[in-house]
Amino acid sequence: MSVYDKAVQQVYGQLSDIWKNFNDTYDYELISNITYRIKSPESIINKMKKKHYKLNYKNLVNNINDIAGIRIVCPMKDNIYTIIKIIEQMEDIKIIKRKDYLSKAKQSGYSGYHLIIKTPVNIENRIMYIKVEIQIRTMAMDFWATNEHKMKYKTDKKLSKLDSRKLTLYAKILNIIDDKIMKLYQKQTECRF
Ligand code: GTP
Ligand code: MG
Repeated sequence: MSVYDKAVQQVYGQLSDIWKNFNDTYDYELISNITYRIKSPESIINKMKKKHYKLNYKNLVNNINDIAGIRIVCPMKDNIYTIIKIIEQMEDIKIIKRKDYLSKAKQSGYSGYHLIIKTPVNIENRIMYIKVEIQIRTMAMDFWATNEHKMKYKTDKKLSKLDSRKLTLYAKILNIIDDKIMKLYQKQTECRF
């Protein structure tokens, strides 16, 4: 776990520098917030069981991509594409997988953009390439996902089908608002980011 911890802190540090430099250079808040976490051993085991993997080190390394996770939240949807371009240009980092839930949201209503990257970590003078999941969302997407997660996963009380459908509908409404507010802002400022 300490290897994943090192990896996630390294990438977090690089992203934080980029965030600061972007603010200084363009006087524009591209990112509102970056957080990171390491998955608890308990959730790793639960996930492996759920996905029917035998509990061993090889399956853990090869199949669990989100042991180290970073979440970037930004004000507007177009910011996500700028952030993706910036990550694509980061030295060292290799993108190994992408999930685009922006052009098509998940059935639940969830949207966002996920990258699985590999970052080189120096462990006792040996370089290991460690996977880190980076989730990029707007504030509106984050608002929805955080609350939906609370209602669906963090409680024993199951949501009814109707209430689940309402949540999906609210995600669609938020998505429309996300676009509309961005358009208003872009009309006013001709913002390029
Ligand atoms: P896991 O969901 O991690 O098992 O992996 P996956 O292969 O299905 O990956 P996916 O990229 O679809 O989802 C990874 C992460 O995105 C999750 O761990 C959540 O943080 C987030 N996510 C995906 N779908 C939903 C959703 O319907 N609701 C919420 N709140 N978060 C979601
Ligand atoms: Mg996950």
